[in-house]
Amino acid sequence: MSDIVTNSCTSNASPLRSLSKTDVVMDYYNKKIMAPMVRIGTLPMRLLALENGCDIAYSEELIDFKVKNTTRVVNEKLNTVDFISKDKSLTYRTCDADVRNVLQLGTASSVTALEAANVVVNDVCAIDINMGCPKFFSVQGGMGSALLSQPEKIKDILSTLIRNLPIPVTCKIRLLATDNETIDLLKIIENTGVKAIAVHARMIPERPRDPAHWDRLENILSNASFSVPIIVNGDIFEHGDIASSLAKTKANSVMIARGAIRNASIFSQPVATNVHKLIQRYIQIAYENDNHAVNTKYNITNILNENLMTQTPEFKSIQSAKDYPAFCNIFNISSQYEKFVQSQKVEAKNYISVSVQNEDLVAKDNENSCSNKNSNNNNNDENSSNNNNNKHELPGNSILNEDSDNNPQALKKQKV
Ligand SMILES: Cc1cc2nc3c(=O)[nH]c(=O)nc-3n(C[C@H](O)[C@H](O)[C@H](O)COP(=O)(O)O)c2cc1C
Repeated sequence: MSDIVTNSCTSNASPLRSLSKTDVVMDYYNKKIMAPMVRIGTLPMRLLALENGCDIAYSEELIDFKVKNTTRVVNEKLNTVDFISKDKSLTYRTCDADVRNVLQLGTASSVTALEAANVVVNDVCAIDINMGCPKFFSVQGGMGSALLSQPEKIKDILSTLIRNLPIPVTCKIRLLATDNETIDLLKIIENTGVKAIAVHARMIPERPRDPAHWDRLENILSNASFSVPIIVNGDIFEHGDIASSLAKTKANSVMIARGAIRNASIFSQPVATNVHKLIQRYIQIAYENDNHAVNTKYNITNILNENLMTQTPEFKSIQSAKDYPAFCNIFNISSQYEKFVQSQKVEAKNYISVSVQNEDLVAKDNENSCSNKNSNNNNNDENSSNNNNNKHELPGNSILNEDSDNNPQALKKQKV
């Protein structure tokens, strides 16, 4: 029998029935934030960043349709709250240690965005809207950077969420072609009542290899003042870049993506110098939270890749590794693996039982799944998400669900 209880069962007084996220006061000034990152920003990476000085860790982008069709499940074995899709894949997982968690939505509709936000509203501290993703899937669906040229839609989405949600709403944009246009856009967004605006200091056509324009954000912030905190994002790779990007741009906070993959301890000093130790810790957190091995492998691969360690024996071994014992073996923590297993005091896999209703909505889920072009080789581009990395079968077999319809390439590369 399943130990998982859906939120429709309210009689049991487990603290996890309410994570009390709505009580958390979100402050976006002087904060070090881990950026939303598709498939990277699942619970274990957020927890790793948080225990290394990160103040706020965003989720990966999750598409509104996907989130709105999930069921909230209290996972008593893991002490997590899970949001499970109709196909029983895990869409979002959080826990008490996932403090100040921000869930990023991909959306083109205020109605669907609100429906999605209402599903998770008691378990997240804020909702962020992705207005920067330049990927085909997002843009052709009117999401991500497609919103940047639709101020009326921006106003509609943000003000609808702000009017109806008890938690802060923020958004993440890119620079527009000119500083004046960007200022105008920031003013429109500010007037909706958002609590913060993250600015990825690149324009829509620019790729991660193009340098971020801290100088343009500096110009924008010296020519206009905003009543909401502005978060600078782009090319913060060392701990020292946090202070220098703030000093240069006069932004209020920083947001870090690839620098956090490279070194999750970038947020505080002393910065860890031993990548192996960080990966060991990542594996432990991932295991303890029953993170799908495919996603864990993907993250380890990305950490190695960001550290230019693709020629190392570990990188080669991880390509053929399939499960946690193999990961532990590669990173020399096999003896600890047994301790992880014992400390969980559960079987290696948790059991999830979710009654599936409205099966017809699954089709809509699939229609709205994102094309995730990122691969095990990590092109580190901005991606839309369909987080099917964590799929659980009854009873308790985590199985591969790599969004094969949308992402055959990733499936090929990720298959374990
Ligand atoms: C692997 C990866 C996945 C990303 N996924 C998202 C996402 O889900 N939502 C989003 O708004 N931006 C996403 N981005 C963009 C980052 O949040 C960030 O804006 C960009 O990488 C620039 O920051 P950086 O120079 O610190 O890497 C992603 C970036 C990377 C590298």
